[in-house]
Amino acid sequence: MAAGIDDIAIYIPRLYIDAADFAKARGLDPEKLQKGLGVSQMAIVDTNQDPACLAANACLQIMQKNKLSPEDIGRLYVSTESSFDESKAMNSYVIGMLEQVYGQGAFEHCGGVETKFACVSGSYALYDNTNWIRAGEAEGKHALVVVSDIAKYDMGSSGEMTQGAGAVVMLLNDEPRLLSFDPKVTATSIKDEYDFYRPFGKETPIVHGQYSNLLYMIQVRKALETYKKKAISSGLMKLEPGETILDHMDYLNMHLPYSNMGKKALAYLVRHEWRQLPRWKKIIQEIGIQEPIPKDPRGTIESVLGDEEFMAKDHEFTKAFTKTREFQEIYEAKLASSLVASKMIGNLYTASLYLGFRSCLEFEYQKGIDLNGKRFGFGSYGSGSSAMVFSGTIQPQYEEIVKNMNLEAELAPRRRLTLDEYETLHENKLSPEESILRTKREFILVDVNTTTESRGERR
Ligand code: HMG
Repeated sequence: MAAGIDDIAIYIPRLYIDAADFAKARGLDPEKLQKGLGVSQMAIVDTNQDPACLAANACLQIMQKNKLSPEDIGRLYVSTESSFDESKAMNSYVIGMLEQVYGQGAFEHCGGVETKFACVSGSYALYDNTNWIRAGEAEGKHALVVVSDIAKYDMGSSGEMTQGAGAVVMLLNDEPRLLSFDPKVTATSIKDEYDFYRPFGKETPIVHGQYSNLLYMIQVRKALETYKKKAISSGLMKLEPGETILDHMDYLNMHLPYSNMGKKALAYLVRHEWRQLPRWKKIIQEIGIQEPIPKDPRGTIESVLGDEEFMAKDHEFTKAFTKTREFQEIYEAKLASSLVASKMIGNLYTASLYLGFRSCLEFEYQKGIDLNGKRFGFGSYGSGSSAMVFSGTIQPQYEEIVKNMNLEAELAPRRRLTLDEYETLHENKLSPEESILRTKREFILVDVNTTTESRGERR
């Protein structure tokens, strides 16, 4: 049975901080953000927004657009790493808000949980709900998977230049107009790691930035290896001599903590795949630098970690490789359009990969490309750490959804924060009623009260 994404919607806060203003205030070269990381603006939440409100706003939008009633929804999952309750799941907060519109008890028949595994948890939620549909359990109902996060780092830390906020919701069913997931190929990799984590009571994560970059690439590569085996053994793909698995993916959407991480990851995966091909020797000759090979040729994290000399050489080689015509072609064709939204919005943790997918659809369609039947590969990563690689193909009715996408219009009007305003918000100095923007017809946080039975009021 087919199962996949029928429609997709986003909700992005209207406040943002500009990379140039941020760099000036922190004494950084703006080029480091804009060119080095690929960050131009970062969306910031107002005082009256939390991840549950972002998620509820995205859900209401997709339900209204598709004229769905609560009866049409069989499952509502929320994936987040910005959770504010150790027990009560965020989807119950979201349902509470939606029932203010649809009536008390309107979602009582609906199931769902909040899922957590840093940024990868939304992909696990998508997989579980896809299988719920494939198993015939949905009985004609749809699933809503919402990925919603506020990426907030300590002030003055290196992570602070990779913040952002927003929610993406995906409507899943057995006749998806947008993308049908390829069966029997979803592949995962998992390892107990401490690259990025947020212990109880801490609002911001503890981050080992460069280590997290490296782990991301190694974990996704491992998942891709498993994907490759499954794609071949299930008959989905047959590799002819001189071909790699990436040749069978028209687009590759990667988790985007900052947009250039997508490019770094693509370069890593392409290098790994191309190393087995005769043309690789020619490319190395063109680059003019010997490719460093780790002591353990499988390139495990243990074999490269702490080997500063290897890491420096590897970085230099990758930089040179990304400048080659061969890499530029694959980058422009398969990845570049997915990075546009990330540059304007920043990291959305669980939602970043799916904002990238949404971005790719809009900007490839605008180029006049017929997307029907195109295969999208997805590289999902969550710190801590786990990766998931999966794929799907665009469906004939995709145009119905994609033709109306307009990121610029959906983001507008946006308000550029001054550095003072941003820092006041960052330090949580204001109460919900002191919001910077006046909000109309949206779910907002009205009150936070951790001492009573309810954690807060939203309407
Ligand atoms: P950093 O270490 O200060 O930055 O912070 P850097 O020195 O690596 O510089 C960044 C890039 O800018 C480099 O490019 C520099 O060369 C370049 P590269 O060489 O790598 O291609 N650069 C410049 N370019 C132009 N002009 C200049 C200039 N100066 C430097 N003047 C870091 C970067 C990502 C470590 C930091 O922002 C951070 O800690 N971020 C948070 C962690 C993170 O995003 N990790 C990503 C992988 S893990 C992940 O994705 C999971 C996550 O989403 C969480 C989850 O799963 O829940 C984070």
